[in-house]
Amino acid sequence: MLAIIGGSGLTQLVNMEVTRRLVMRTPYGEPSGALTFGMIGAHEVIFLARHGYAHTIPPHEVNYRANIWALGSQHVDHVLSVASVGGIRSDFTPGSLAIPEQLIDYTHGRQSTFFDTRDKPVTHTDFTEPYCETLRQACIRSAQACGKKVIQGGVYAATQGPRLETAAEINRMERDGADMVGMTGMPEAILAREAGLCYAAIAVVANYAAGRGSSEHGVRLEEVSGVLKAAMADVRVILENLVEHYGD
Ligand code: HPA
Repeated sequence: MLAIIGGSGLTQLVNMEVTRRLVMRTPYGEPSGALTFGMIGAHEVIFLARHGYAHTIPPHEVNYRANIWALGSQHVDHVLSVASVGGIRSDFTPGSLAIPEQLIDYTHGRQSTFFDTRDKPVTHTDFTEPYCETLRQACIRSAQACGKKVIQGGVYAATQGPRLETAAEINRMERDGADMVGMTGMPEAILAREAGLCYAAIAVVANYAAGRGSSEHGVRLEEVSGVLKAAMADVRVILENLVEHYGD
């Protein structure tokens, strides 16, 4: 079954007919909220709001392990993250969508592995290609089928937050090869990989990153809600098409 983790701007799926909600405790604590089971068209999916349904959990306090563990326990095999980002590369303009193919992790102090106890063998998980190529390609195909433009690829920089970046930090990330910046892509992606789940993301560019475009002298995220709303409507259309291939 496909699970969708929604980020800022996507705390619910209006095109999903909710069938039940499941409150869970996991060995890692509580997920961000109840798992929402429902139907998109003829297919069952699970939705989880990463920041909680009232958007109260900041990126560095999301219990990523509990979220992934909870989804894995419910026969989920594919996880699609929807995450808002700041655009670094010049074509990552507000409102555009991208399917990242690489990431760089700048986060720190987060619980970022399931293999941290002495009762499990030391495990070094391969992460050369951090996103599931099959699910990435399916997202690209679905976007194309719906006539929605997506940037096919890009490097996602995961920052600690909750503060935004300095202009110099963005310049450094660009030199590192990053095209977009967000606060939640890690450790979510590695935990999904450790749990054996196929994971990909749709990045929604909410704003120009610090020092770029209209953010030259500051990022005003409170001004991006209109952009985000329109882009999330596109994401919902793409998801409807995607579940045809990945829903149960
Ligand atoms: N930086 C980090 N995370 C973000 C941004 C940003 O500019 N926009 C949306 N999420």
